[in-house]
Amino acid sequence: MKLARVPKSGAEPLRKKLFSIGAARKDFSIYENNDEIFIPIKENIADGVSREYGLEIVEGSCEEQIWRRSPYDRIVEEIAIDCSLKPHLPRKWEMFGNVLVLRIPAGLKDMESEIAGKYAEVLGAKTVCEEAGIITGDYRSPNLRVLYGSDTETIHLENGIYYKFDVAKIMFSSGNVKERGRMGELDCRGQTVVDMFAGIGYFTLPIAVRAGARKVIACEINPLAHRYLQENTEINHVEGTVVPFHGDNRDLPGERFADRIVMGYVGTTEKFLDNAVRMARPGCVIHYHETCPINLLPDRPLARVARAAAGRKHETIGIREVKSYAPSTSHVVVDFRILD
Ligand SMILES: C[S@@+](CC[C@H](N)C(=O)[O-])C[C@H]1O[C@@H](n2cnc3c(N)ncnc32)[C@H](O)[C@@H]1O
Repeated sequence: MKLARVPKSGAEPLRKKLFSIGAARKDFSIYENNDEIFIPIKENIADGVSREYGLEIVEGSCEEQIWRRSPYDRIVEEIAIDCSLKPHLPRKWEMFGNVLVLRIPAGLKDMESEIAGKYAEVLGAKTVCEEAGIITGDYRSPNLRVLYGSDTETIHLENGIYYKFDVAKIMFSSGNVKERGRMGELDCRGQTVVDMFAGIGYFTLPIAVRAGARKVIACEINPLAHRYLQENTEINHVEGTVVPFHGDNRDLPGERFADRIVMGYVGTTEKFLDNAVRMARPGCVIHYHETCPINLLPDRPLARVARAAAGRKHETIGIREVKSYAPSTSHVVVDFRILD
């Protein structure tokens, strides 16, 4: 076996480099002997690596590593691109069902189809998309470009809930995973819940499937998201609980009928608070989401809640961070109760 023989002092950066370019073998252990370390190197590239980094390569043997390679390690090792480019391969990605979303760095654009193909093979994705821009508009539509495969519709499983949607047309915020989990852990037995921004059922489904709500009125303005919401209630067997409403939540009729209201939308959510308060019956808990610069926390969201609830007694139950939204900006949720 080929081993790179390097003095122990100063070996660390070299070790990292050899792993990042996929030259070091992960199936055998590095070992130390008399102030030197021996790094197992792949046979076929040992000469090239030796020349490029001025390394002494010796023949030897070392212990086999009993571990499974991570998907990223497999990608780095197997992909047929220049070794010097391998450290730039994306280390992070999002997998929705069997559709993969990643970002290709500028220096790797020329080989994006090889890269997408290898990620698809190793991660078991049918389609690979690149994030081409930011989420926009009232519908919160993503901006993705397909790099590999074609079908972007998938079924994503999270916390035991199935979410069917088209990854290229409908957003799904991975960062909201804890909040979706929290909604499923609420005790909503016997409650009428209104989800004012239901999307494909991000919060509606955990509340209907796991929190035991009697009825969830799920309002969604985007026809495509509404269609997936309908399908998802069937896939998750909660057609008897969820009542999908297609339209603007400001057109939801009725006053003082909801026991719980979810306002899972950010950007302009405060404009919808008056409507939430109108639908709240005494005792109703409202989950109000907002993105807020951290220097304005908790005052700004609490002031907005107080203004909207002005005519009625209310209490704040808590305010928590859903996720970091941007540098110095936090996505928070305020839980408050209308008392009278
Ligand atoms: C995409 S979701 C927000 C993210 C989601 N909470 C999550 O966990 O990923 C917001 C949804 O609200 C819908 N929406 C926006 N304005 C609305 C309105 N006035 N009435 C009903 N739905 C609306 C959008 O179409 C979108 O589907």
